[in-house]
Amino acid sequence: MANYSFKLNGRAVTVDSWDPAQPLLYLLRNALELHGPKFGCGLAQCGACTVLLDGKAVRSCVTQVRQAAGHAVTTLEGLGTPEKPDAVQAAFIAEQAAQCGYCTNGMIMGAKALLNETPHPTVEQVREALNNNLCRCGTHTRILNAVMRAAKA
Ligand code: FES
Ligand code: FES
Repeated sequence: MANYSFKLNGRAVTVDSWDPAQPLLYLLRNALELHGPKFGCGLAQCGACTVLLDGKAVRSCVTQVRQAAGHAVTTLEGLGTPEKPDAVQAAFIAEQAAQCGYCTNGMIMGAKALLNETPHPTVEQVREALNNNLCRCGTHTRILNAVMRAAKA
């Protein structure tokens, strides 16, 4: 068993793991009880597990815990609270951009990463950034509207 320390949603954490290659997603959900990131495919193909690593969107199902050590991890819970949501979270609520909600974590975290780098994207840039985040409910139009709303906020 080894220890891995990183910053999580602004606070320092240390987790134990028996395997340096253990997916960060497992530790976030099971040890740290952060259930924003979802397990979808486990193969870096759906985006449901997306978190920010030093501000960039990564798939936590294939990010090894050792890769997070010494870095800053942000999950959906780190963006805002129900009382004070982040601009992207607020825009998703305003546009009602979810049906089942399973993809929503990845869509919001992907949008956040995009807006960190490109605060005023075109619709085409949003489409491109979220291209590999899968939504099986067909909420795409509302999601695009929500990201554009957040960019204007
Ligand atoms: S669960 Fe990580 S990309 Fe699908
Ligand atoms: S809202 Fe259900 S998968 Fe996107």
